[in-house]
Amino acid sequence: MSFTVAIDGPAASGKGTISRAVADHFGFAHLDTGLLYRAVGRKVLDGVDPVQAAKALQAEDLQGDDLRTSKVAQAASKVAVIPEVRQALLDFQRAFAMRSGGAVLDGRDIGTVICPGAQVKLFVTASDAVRAERRYLELSTKGQDVTRDGVLEDLRARDKRDRERDAAPLVAAEDAVVLDTSEMSIDEAVAKAVAVIEARIAAG
Ligand code: DC
Repeated sequence: MSFTVAIDGPAASGKGTISRAVADHFGFAHLDTGLLYRAVGRKVLDGVDPVQAAKALQAEDLQGDDLRTSKVAQAASKVAVIPEVRQALLDFQRAFAMRSGGAVLDGRDIGTVICPGAQVKLFVTASDAVRAERRYLELSTKGQDVTRDGVLEDLRARDKRDRERDAAPLVAAEDAVVLDTSEMSIDEAVAKAVAVIEARIAAG
């Protein structure tokens, strides 16, 4: 039996951290679907056609620290508006969700398009200022040359593109539980997510 947890939300909302912790807690497999789009975006920066890049994506393309740069994030958000790119990545994500033993997928359209039948759907948000500060600390700690204003601008541009695109835009599924992490510690946010999933498991 599969059990799927869909976790969506804007950039730097905390969804990645929550997803990893929840997967650890329940022993579920975890897929960061943003990495798929980042890997395609990185290939496009190297001159490859986006649809070809998405169709030819390999597991080893999902490795590498350079996937985590703002430049690749913007490229990912740009390729993500192309329906053929999204289509090429669909089967892999659905197959991952259906594996036995449980799966957590995080992204933008997991609860709405990839896994509309997911047992649990969370939509993780936080204020722009909080998200920008988190991402600034993350990138500057890694030694990347970023400013607070630059990070905030990047996040806003990316969110706008992700929310306003026609193909699978970023939006909370109607049946998603919304988790605003602006005022929460990581532990508090993870505890809330775990509680929602435990309640769903108990309900059978
Ligand atoms: O989660 P992330 O910041 O790594 O995602 C990078 C970009 O990829 C994001 O700005 C939009 C796109 N994306 C998407 O369109 N659908 C997903 N399920 C995951 C990411």
